[in-house]
Amino acid sequence: MAKQGKLKTGVHRPLPHDSAAKHVSGEALYTDDLPEPPGLLHAAFGMSARPHARIVSLDLAPVRKAPGVVAVMAAGDVPGDNNCAPVMHDDPIFAGGLVEYVGQSIFAVAAGTVEQARRAARLARIEYEDLPAILTAEAALEAKTFVLPPHTMKRGEPKKAIAKAKHRLKGRIKVGGQDQFYLEGHIAMAVPGEDRDVTVYSSTQNPSEVQHLVAEALGLASNAVTLEIRRMGGAFGGKETQPALYACIAALLADKTGRPVKARVDRDDDMGMTGKRHDFVIDYDVGYDDKGRIKGIEFMQAARCGMSADLSAAIADRAMFHADNAYYLPAARIVSHRCKTNTVSNTAFRGFGGPQGMVGIEQVIDEIARDLGLDPLDVRRANLYGGTPGNRGRDVTPYHMTVEDNILPKLLDDLEKTSDYRARRREIDGYNATSPVLKRGIALTPVKFGISFTTSHLNQAGALIHVYTDGSVHLNHGGTEMGQGLFVKVAQVVAEEFQIDLDRIKITATNTGKVPNTSATAASSGSDMNGMAARAAARTIKERLTAFAADAFDCTKSEVVFQNNRVRVGRKTLSFKELVRAAYLGRVSLSATGYYRTPKIHYDRKKAAGRPFYYFAYGAAVTEAVIDTLTGEYRFPRVDILHDVGQSLNPAIDLGQIEGGFLQGLGWLTMEELYWNADGALATHAPSTYKIPTASDWPEAFDVRIFDRGRNREPTVHRSKAVGEPPLMLAISGFLAIKDALAAACGHQVSPPLDAPATPEAVLMTLEAMRARLGGGESLREAAE
Ligand code: MTE
Ligand code: MOS
Repeated sequence: MAKQGKLKTGVHRPLPHDSAAKHVSGEALYTDDLPEPPGLLHAAFGMSARPHARIVSLDLAPVRKAPGVVAVMAAGDVPGDNNCAPVMHDDPIFAGGLVEYVGQSIFAVAAGTVEQARRAARLARIEYEDLPAILTAEAALEAKTFVLPPHTMKRGEPKKAIAKAKHRLKGRIKVGGQDQFYLEGHIAMAVPGEDRDVTVYSSTQNPSEVQHLVAEALGLASNAVTLEIRRMGGAFGGKETQPALYACIAALLADKTGRPVKARVDRDDDMGMTGKRHDFVIDYDVGYDDKGRIKGIEFMQAARCGMSADLSAAIADRAMFHADNAYYLPAARIVSHRCKTNTVSNTAFRGFGGPQGMVGIEQVIDEIARDLGLDPLDVRRANLYGGTPGNRGRDVTPYHMTVEDNILPKLLDDLEKTSDYRARRREIDGYNATSPVLKRGIALTPVKFGISFTTSHLNQAGALIHVYTDGSVHLNHGGTEMGQGLFVKVAQVVAEEFQIDLDRIKITATNTGKVPNTSATAASSGSDMNGMAARAAARTIKERLTAFAADAFDCTKSEVVFQNNRVRVGRKTLSFKELVRAAYLGRVSLSATGYYRTPKIHYDRKKAAGRPFYYFAYGAAVTEAVIDTLTGEYRFPRVDILHDVGQSLNPAIDLGQIEGGFLQGLGWLTMEELYWNADGALATHAPSTYKIPTASDWPEAFDVRIFDRGRNREPTVHRSKAVGEPPLMLAISGFLAIKDALAAACGHQVSPPLDAPATPEAVLMTLEAMRARLGGGESLREAAE
């Protein structure tokens, strides 16, 4: 038989994002670009101006009379359930008698144009009776206001271990929140059908949940509502639960008027109305030995959840699951408080609480190293989970899961060498000794991130594949595309399975009518789960084709081989298309669903023990910072990253995720600052006041590598690993590099009391505080506390 060659567009190939060209040419259709149906109305929102108040009176008559207004709806007008909360039923679509944050939706208007709707929404006459407002996690801790009960994880006897340890330190670090700042803001368009059916185009990571919430709001069954989303212009967790509000409002107004309705918020309203990353207050108390090895530790994590629970239970849990990051904690207690505040309900953001948890332990390690005068890298290595000689037995997490796949010792060896960490540390010390104004710092931090939804039932996915008689393939699955490259990865998996070129596969919009009851595309598990589900569907069809071919051409099934767009059947070779056509004529079904659920995972939340994660993703980064001690400004001259993605499904996409994740993390920890004023209003509600990283923040030297020995120990799809979130946490190295430079500025005599984000302003103020302490003649140890 002639040589058939290898498929060029299957898995492990660095193929471009399927929509890359369309993204840059502007031809990619986002929800707002879809052709608008005739008679389309536009929605605008009436929002609370107070953080906590009773609504004494709500007069919407002037809104109704405004030009172009077709409908106005408020709490009493919802035919079904006035709720758009994902878990706890505590987020009303329209606030009734009580408002709990500035920006909360009170009513909505549908009018002929956006302008008319927005002008009308401002005409409402609302009288409030103010109630005391709690705005910060600290204030909530004091007042004991929580959205959910506290939760504890414990292993061993930390109190005793800390007391017995040779060294001990305590401290607090505050970690700020972050706006998702997707380029495409929230949007939904609802198109009514017959019998009150509705189709909703919604920019959501979670179509099934939005479908169910829209159905409940309308008082209809789920089968009356169809959700569709082709792609989002970025989501980053901000579109996991938050889209429901806009979808419900568009659907309610469409149902009421019988006309299509589009609900789209502008940037300022989007930032004010939608949840962000939780900011945290973290207290620690740790005991350790002369080598900096942790003997016992206690963490208190307080998360600002905002006015409702949203996903805070799972997010605060994930912060606890990552309070160890990559380190073995022989005795640990982690207590988590879920603080209720009169601010917008915080929600998912890339890393989902994990990053905040990790900042806590990385700060601890850094402080231990400073206290003992050791290189933080040596303290990190001394505390790593098992895998290095002498570390055997040191492999159980505070939630009693055994770490089986730790590759960090190897990965750190590699990165330490390629980044020239040791020599640069010496060189930097020399530089700092003679440079009066500029000070440099360096830090290497690892990441170990648990992959799976910690809510076990969410770990399931479905797919639907049709093969048409011309041999072309229609691919659909429950995952959503937000720029992360999920669709091309899943298509590569299907191409590999059928051994056909990628251009034979049509990637299609996520639609609840095709694949039902899906989970959000989140927890970085999109390609793990949808890749497997799609593979299962493809295999079903392939098995049917194989059985048909063996029968038709009188050979065994093992003699039917799919390879590079052709199928060998005994001694004959057909094109894929020829076989498909023959199978159709032979009355073989060419359509199949596929399903996957993640094996091995289990978790008993009451006991805080189990195996919540199928596996871990690992990586590490070395970041160098240089600060200007006169202005507090800084730059990152060099970043070296080594990240493990198992056997990459698509190295080009994965590199993009690593670079993007890192820079987004750096933005969170250094420049993005959310500020609420004393009246509870978000003052940083647009790019004018909220600074995110841009192309110019790309590090001057940026070496990003995929770990070439990566291979998932578990049989995931082609042994790949999830990549969406873990790289964000590599940026902790940037924060600690700034801290290292700050310490150098004071001759390594005072520990920098630096919280995140380390804005230039914060850097300068930290420096002043350190100098004041030094000048005040305090001892080193007092100054550090
Ligand atoms: N990458 C881009 N370009 N845009 C995004 O919105 N979201 C991140 C990550 N990478 C995001 C992204 C988040 S929060 C998650 S959970 C994953 O992608 C989700 O997709 P995956 O499971 O397919 O990796
Ligand atoms: Mo990502 S925060 O899990 O959507």
